[in-house]
Amino acid sequence: MIIAIDGPAASGKGTLGKRLAQHYGYRHLDTGVIYRAVACALMQSGHDLRDEAAAVAAAMELDPATFGDPALKSQKAGEGASIVSAIPRVREVLVDFQRQFAANPPGAVLDGRDIGTVICPDADVKIFVVADPRVRAHRRTMEAKARGEAADEAVVLADILARDERDQNRPVAPLKPAADAYLLDNSRLDIEGGVRAAIDIIEAVRAGRPRG
Ligand code: C5P
Repeated sequence: MIIAIDGPAASGKGTLGKRLAQHYGYRHLDTGVIYRAVACALMQSGHDLRDEAAAVAAAMELDPATFGDPALKSQKAGEGASIVSAIPRVREVLVDFQRQFAANPPGAVLDGRDIGTVICPDADVKIFVVADPRVRAHRRTMEAKARGEAADEAVVLADILARDERDQNRPVAPLKPAADAYLLDNSRLDIEGGVRAAIDIIEAVRAGRPRG
């Protein structure tokens, strides 16, 4: 089974993806990490984030062993990822890696922006997670502070809104729900509430009881 989770920055899809993978015994891929790794590689080698040739080369040399690097979590990496991910050739190069991950048994949970629309259009269950931008900014700020980073909630909110705008309006693989995705608004849900709501959706789909 393939579970596709998409949604905007800091909507809680990564945590949800991890928890669902644990629950079902599947593997989990946070696809944002891939674009963050490409952006960090460019920043480290001193290339401009809009340098297409360098970005494509970095995408081709992607090393999954670096996915756990804490530097990938930073706001700068996220902002950079949203720039490199708008380059169509970069996305093309990374499609196979994501599809292969999804295809390996026993099942997989992938979260990102275009999993249900482009990477796994035949996913068994698609969930599109949304949350109020202010709630997202607050959560992201708390996470940054917990890591010991200085974070100003107003700046984080501005970054989130800029990223939403860029991700939704790029010509290639824009952030949008697939026609057959279930919407999960977790603005007022805590982590456990979000996980329960997602499991309810997945179980209803598995039992052939599609929800409205
Ligand atoms: O989800 P995360 O915040 O880590 O993603 C960082 C950026 O990578 C996003 O703002 C988006 O531009 C890009 N991304 C994407 N497609 C994905 C996952 C992430 O374009 N499947």
